[in-house]
Amino acid sequence: MSEGGGAGERAGEPAGEAGRGAFRLAVLASGTGSNLQAILDTLHGGPEGIAVAAVASNVADAPALARAQQAGIPTAAFPLEAYPDRSARDTALADWIAGHEVRLVVLAGYMQLLTPAFLGRFPHAVVNVHPALLPAFPGLDAVGQALAHGTRVFGVTVHFVDEGVDTGPIILQRALELPRARTREDVLEPLHAVEHELLPEAIRLIARGAVRIDPADPRRVLLD
Ligand code: GRF
Repeated sequence: MSEGGGAGERAGEPAGEAGRGAFRLAVLASGTGSNLQAILDTLHGGPEGIAVAAVASNVADAPALARAQQAGIPTAAFPLEAYPDRSARDTALADWIAGHEVRLVVLAGYMQLLTPAFLGRFPHAVVNVHPALLPAFPGLDAVGQALAHGTRVFGVTVHFVDEGVDTGPIILQRALELPRARTREDVLEPLHAVEHELLPEAIRLIARGAVRIDPADPRRVLLD
């Protein structure tokens, strides 16, 4: 994945290319890893030829890492405290990911900003799932922000990652009407169910070569 990817080019490379077989991806997760689990359950080793090749975290005891180990997938932890700075940590992380020859990096609850240098290693090939309809409620605690605002509609966005906070081009979005929601608990379970469908769907489209940045408008994602 480390090569290719200018504006207008397809994200990743289509699955099933000569020599490589599976469309290999890395997942970064800081917490529970329910989105990782959804990817493992619905895509990993399935008929679309998609494989989770590596899972990394900034949290050494993240449950997400245990889920990956359970599935026999290589894991590694890159806690910020173990490095002189964020740049050094992200260089080590990028080197480890690149060593697994992946074409896509999926942020599934990865609660750290990635440095521009990291993103430069994987152009147009880092995606994130965010628990709100961007550009509303970017950043931390999107569901809490939406509740505080009194929204009646919640939602999920899968987007390419750029150097901003949840600002990259949008791949897929799905709304969820919850007009009576008052607490995070009211929202999180149905919202996670949407995430667990939408993130694998976006990965499936990318693996199929069906996702590209519009050459006429780099903010816009074209889906074939
Ligand atoms: C998800 O809600 C995702 O949208 C956000 O972090 C959460 C991760 O949940 N970025 P999990 O660890 O996948 O269960």
